[in-house]
Amino acid sequence: MPVNMDCLQNIIAGQIKNNFNLNLFFNNIEEEINIGNEFIVFLLGIKSEGQTDISKLADFAADTALASFYQINQYIQIAGSDKDNLKNIYIDTFNRINDKNSHDTMINHHMQLSAWLSRFYPESFIRALRFNKKIGNVINNEYSPEFQEKVLGIDAAELMEPILDMGCGKNANLVTRLKESGKNIIGIDRVISVNDGSAKKISWFDFNFEKSHWGTIVANMSFTNHMIYSMANEKDRIYDYLILYKKIIESLKPGGRFFYAPSVQSVEERLDDHVYDVEREIMSGINATKLTRIC
Ligand SMILES: C[S@@+](CC[C@H](N)C(=O)[O-])C[C@H]1O[C@@H](n2cnc3c(N)ncnc32)[C@H](O)[C@@H]1O
Repeated sequence: MPVNMDCLQNIIAGQIKNNFNLNLFFNNIEEEINIGNEFIVFLLGIKSEGQTDISKLADFAADTALASFYQINQYIQIAGSDKDNLKNIYIDTFNRINDKNSHDTMINHHMQLSAWLSRFYPESFIRALRFNKKIGNVINNEYSPEFQEKVLGIDAAELMEPILDMGCGKNANLVTRLKESGKNIIGIDRVISVNDGSAKKISWFDFNFEKSHWGTIVANMSFTNHMIYSMANEKDRIYDYLILYKKIIESLKPGGRFFYAPSVQSVEERLDDHVYDVEREIMSGINATKLTRIC
């Protein structure tokens, strides 16, 4: 009898979790990989049974691995075929593994993951990480709706609709709160755990920002945080962020507002002040911007 998909997914998530803090750039990675025997038996079992949708399972494995890579380094941005390439590593491992080569195949699998991940890290980081067995995770917090409203200076009653929360967090805290108070709002994030339709799993780079559509856009510690990181560390990505920033503000209706933190003063100063009004304020130690499209 085929095993139920939820059960399969739990076992795969468990195996990925067992290696969560493993530094994929460590020189002697093969000594550190945690390969559960039960996991191998399970994998060989579903392979011999031949009834499982492997593409769906590999898709789940790629999403789970991505969520843990983001937790370790929130500034990784995958685009285009990156996710398909990651998914193909899982499919390839599944196709190759058998009862004679399972250990070597799993080691090779982690080498492939390491090669895939290396393109998102500067060479100097990878060199420095070669000697660490474990990797720490960077704080990538979600904030309470009250805190977000305070930092951004939002008065829910005054928000023009529809509302978009960019990088709303996997639990979409602010979206849930504003939805409960009757607002027409949707969140987007590359990692989403809510499944009531209030948030969509998509990268802001792939989202279609229609012109003159949104009454309010909110982005707390998300879009501009990444934009600032890019300005400091990823010179070749800056233009992607600047182009997207322009698309975002053009997607506001006249009178609509973009509330975000942290501020990006150097970009804000270049805007046409006949079209956009910018107010900046420091709240709870964070520089936040309220941008209004005048016309
Ligand atoms: C620090 S969290 C803030 C979450 C939320 N705004 C809050 O204040 O609770 C930043 C969020 O940006 C999301 N993010 C990063 N890059 C993204 C992208 N390219 N597209 C969509 N969301 C992204 C992350 O997944 C994360 O949930």
